[in-house]
Amino acid sequence: MGLNFGLVGIGRWGRNYIASLEKIKGCSLRWVCSRRKESLQNPLIPYVKKTTNIEDILSDKNTQAVIIATPASTHYQLAKRALLHDKHVLLEKPGSLNSANISELFRISAKRGKVLLIGFEFLFHPAIEYLKKVLRRETIQFVEYVHTGNSPRREDINVLWDYFPHFFSILGYLDIKNIQPVSVLGKAYKGRQEDIVSAHFKSGKAAISAFSAWEYPKKRTQLTISTNRGVWCFDDQAEDKLVFHFHKGNKLENKKVALSFGAPLTLEIMHFMECIRKNVSPITNVGFCLEVIKSLEAAQKALKRL
Ligand SMILES: NC(=O)c1ccc[n+]([C@@H]2O[C@H](COP(=O)([O-])OP(=O)(O)OC[C@H]3O[C@@H](n4cnc5c(N)ncnc54)[C@H](OP(=O)(O)O)[C@@H]3O)[C@@H](O)[C@H]2O)c1
Repeated sequence: MGLNFGLVGIGRWGRNYIASLEKIKGCSLRWVCSRRKESLQNPLIPYVKKTTNIEDILSDKNTQAVIIATPASTHYQLAKRALLHDKHVLLEKPGSLNSANISELFRISAKRGKVLLIGFEFLFHPAIEYLKKVLRRETIQFVEYVHTGNSPRREDINVLWDYFPHFFSILGYLDIKNIQPVSVLGKAYKGRQEDIVSAHFKSGKAAISAFSAWEYPKKRTQLTISTNRGVWCFDDQAEDKLVFHFHKGNKLENKKVALSFGAPLTLEIMHFMECIRKNVSPITNVGFCLEVIKSLEAAQKALKRL
C-alpha cells in the first residue's frame, strides 16, 4: 500500500517537497496546509486537498505521514500534535529550538511507535556520504564551513539557528564529536536577529571555523576539510562538487570525485519511507539530533553580538 503524506508549510522550502514527492514511487501527497488561504493557491497542486487547519490532516485516517516545513519556532508544537495523532513525522531542521523539546518529541515517537526524522538534508548529499567513507581512514586537522544565502532573513531565529544545523549535522555525521565553541561573533545588521555569524570551535585537536550570513551577494555552501593526506573541498554550487587536493612530490595535484547520483531531499524522503516500512530509527536518531541541538545551544550561549 502506498504512503499518503500531508505537507504543512508550502513556502520556499515546502515547494521542494511537493516536487520531490512527485518523483518517488509508493507515496502520494494527499494534503497541504498553510495558515493563510492565499498561500494555498498554488498551481502546482491542483489535485491535492487543501486546508488552513492542520486538524483536517491529523484526523484523516488515510494520511499516515506528515511533513512539517514551517518556521523553526513552530516545529515543536506542530510535530508534537502530529505524533500524538499517530502520524509518522518528517520535521524540517532544526526540529526545535531546545534540546528538552527534541527529547520529548523522540520520547513520544518511541511511545507511539512512529518514525520521527529531522531533515538534516546534507546527510543525504552524495558528497557528504563519500566524505564519511574516506574520512574514516584520515586524521582531520582543520575544518572550514561557509554557508551564505540570498534568501530573505527570518524573523523567528537568527542565522546561527538557520544555517548552523547543516554545519553541526554534517560534523556529527562525519564523526567530529565534542565540538566546543572558542569564539562566536554575530552582528544584526538589519533586523532584530543576528544575520552574520563568524565562529571558531575545537574538537579534540581539530580546529573548526564557520561563517554564515543572510542576504549575502553570493549563495555558498562550502566545506573544506584538511587531513593528514590532503584537503577535501566540497562546494555545493560548483559543477565539481567534491575535489581532493594533495601533494605529489613538490606539486599540488587535484582529483575530482565522481559522485553517485541523487537529489538529497528525494533521498531523505526515501530514507523516511524506508524507516516506516522497516520500523527502524532514521540515521538522524535521538542521540544524533540531541548532539546537533546541544551544539547549537552551546554556540548560541557563546554568541557575542558586535
Ligand atoms: N534543508 C534545507 O536546506 C532547508 C532550506 C530552506 C529551509 N529549510 C527549512 O524549511 C522550513 C521552512 O522554511 P521556508 O524557507 O520554506 O520558510 P517560508 O518560506 O517562510 O515558508 C514557511 C511556510 O510555513 C507556513 N506556516 C507558518 N506557520 C504555519 C503554521 N502554524 N501552520 C501551517 N503553515 C504555517 C507559512 O505560510 P502561511 O503564512 O500561509 O501560514 C509559510 O508559507 C524551515 O524550518 C527551514 O529551516 C530547510
